[in-house]
Amino acid sequence: MIDLHSHVLPDVDDGTRSLEEARALARSAVEDGVTRMVATPHVRGDWPTTPERMERGVAELRADFALEGIPLEILHGAELSIERLGELNPDDLLRFSLGQNGRYVLLECPYFSSYVELVPAIKALSKVGLAAVVAHPERNPTIQERPARISALLALGALVQVTAGSIDGRLGRSAERTASALVELGYVHAIASDAHGPHIREGGLAAAAAAVGDSALGTYLTEEAPAAILAGESVATRVRARRRWPFGFS
Ligand SMILES: [Fe+2]
Repeated sequence: MIDLHSHVLPDVDDGTRSLEEARALARSAVEDGVTRMVATPHVRGDWPTTPERMERGVAELRADFALEGIPLEILHGAELSIERLGELNPDDLLRFSLGQNGRYVLLECPYFSSYVELVPAIKALSKVGLAAVVAHPERNPTIQERPARISALLALGALVQVTAGSIDGRLGRSAERTASALVELGYVHAIASDAHGPHIREGGLAAAAAAVGDSALGTYLTEEAPAAILAGESVATRVRARRRWPFGFS
C-alpha cells in the first residue's frame, strides 16, 4: 500500500519527536503492508516548514532506513494550509508536491471553518498547474453536516483523501459517518494514515481498507489510486459495489 499523508519526519512539526519514533512508525507501517510513505509535514502558521527542511528530513530518513534495513520508501511532500499558500512561490509548491511530481499537493481541510474556504486555494493552485488533494474533509463540521457538499471541490479538479482512523471509527462517530458517506457517494480517492507518531493513529491502512466493505474498492483507495496520484496521472472516483441479493435477485 501507499500512504500519502504522514508526519513521519522527526522534529519538524507535531509528528514524530525523534529518529527512534520515526523508525517505530515506519516499522509499524511496513508490518501493516505499506511500501511507500509520503512525508507531509505541516506548512502552516504554527509549523512553517520550508522546502529545504522537508527535503533534508527526507534525505536523513532515507539514509537511516537504508542502514537500519527498514523497507519503506520515503517520498517528498507537505500538508499545506490555506493561509500559508499565498506565501509560497511556484518553485516551493513544486518541491512540496506529492512525490515532487509537480501535479498534486496535499491541502489541509480546515477543522473549524467552512469547507468553502478551500475554493480560492484550489483555484489558485490550478492556475499554476497543480491539483489539490484535500486532506481529511470528513473531520470538517460543514462537510459532516452535508457530505455531498464536497462535490463542489471535485468539480474544481480536487481529489479527496480520508484518514484511516475516520473510516474504521478511531476518530469518532461523526468522522466515521461522514467518511462512510463520502465513500458511498464515490467522492474519495485515497485513504491515508495521517500518522503523527508510533502510538497515535499509527498506520492502520489495512484495517481501514477492510472497513470499506468492498475489497476491490479498499485496494483501489490504498494502492491503485495513490499510485496514480504519485505518478501524476488523472484519477477517477469509484463507488462501493452494491451488495448482491441472494437467490438471483439484483
Ligand atoms: Fe496531517
